[in-house]
Amino acid sequence: MTKHLMLCLLLMMMLAGCSSQKKSAETPDAHKYLVVYYSQTGATQAVAHELARQLEADTLCITLEQPYDGSFAETIQRCQQEMADHTLPVLCPLTLNPADYEVIFLGYPIWFGTYASPIVSLLKAVDFSGCHIVPFCTFGSGGLESSVRDLKAALPNTRIDEGYGIRNARIEKAPGEVTQFLRKHHFLEGDIEELPAFSEQQPLSEADSAIFQAACGDYPMPLGTPISVGRRSIPAGTEYAFAVSSQQSNGETSQTVIYVTAADAADAKPEFTRVVR
Ligand SMILES: Cc1cc2nc3c(=O)[nH]c(=O)nc-3n(C[C@H](O)[C@H](O)[C@H](O)COP(=O)(O)O)c2cc1C
Repeated sequence: MTKHLMLCLLLMMMLAGCSSQKKSAETPDAHKYLVVYYSQTGATQAVAHELARQLEADTLCITLEQPYDGSFAETIQRCQQEMADHTLPVLCPLTLNPADYEVIFLGYPIWFGTYASPIVSLLKAVDFSGCHIVPFCTFGSGGLESSVRDLKAALPNTRIDEGYGIRNARIEKAPGEVTQFLRKHHFLEGDIEELPAFSEQQPLSEADSAIFQAACGDYPMPLGTPISVGRRSIPAGTEYAFAVSSQQSNGETSQTVIYVTAADAADAKPEFTRVVR
């Protein structure tokens, strides 16, 4: 009798063990998202923290054995030297198993039109094959699209989504934009602002030129000359897509699109949001 009871108890314990294992396999994993990023001056880190907060994700900050801790000019100089020498910054040891995560948000500052060199080091150190990556970045003027193109070329066996990018000058807008981005791509539930398409490009009026000048006139680097503009309505304002012609360092002319938002309020300063090259 006692032997029979013990057998029953053992059987029940085994069944309970099986069912709790099954449950943990079915329960959504609290750590299915990872936010991994490099940030030199804190802008990308601010976006990384916001993503991690909204997604309840794990975070991993990439650090370097010899940090880029100089001024902007010194960083440019060091990068140029590294490019000439074909060297890359050495990462501090890191533990990262990409297979542990369903989606990896990969963040970086834009350097020389693409992802910063510590990310090049990361891509060499970690195998992201078969992963799902959502890039995000911060920049002085732009670089999301070109960096995503470069990531796709560098990681042909990895799913790389459309990413999120923001100018560092408007970093305080990141929390709201991140929410919209995460909802649009179904990482969060909630309504998104549906925006109409831009109108066809049209010749610039004087008012359009004044808006471009008010938004972009104080940007410290040359952005080029606006040629034509498309518009669309946004909540409480208008968004402009200026087709801009600019001279490259090799003398060739290139076309970019510069996006500007202008609020309806008469005293609001138009805002330069990004350039797409
Ligand atoms: C070496 C270097 C190169 C840069 N190149 C670009 C660039 O090509 N385009 C751009 O829009 N911003 C460029 N920037 C500006 C950074 O992308 C911007 O300051 C970014 O928000 C910094 O992010 P962090 O604070 O996370 O380091 C560059 C900055 C540095 C230091």
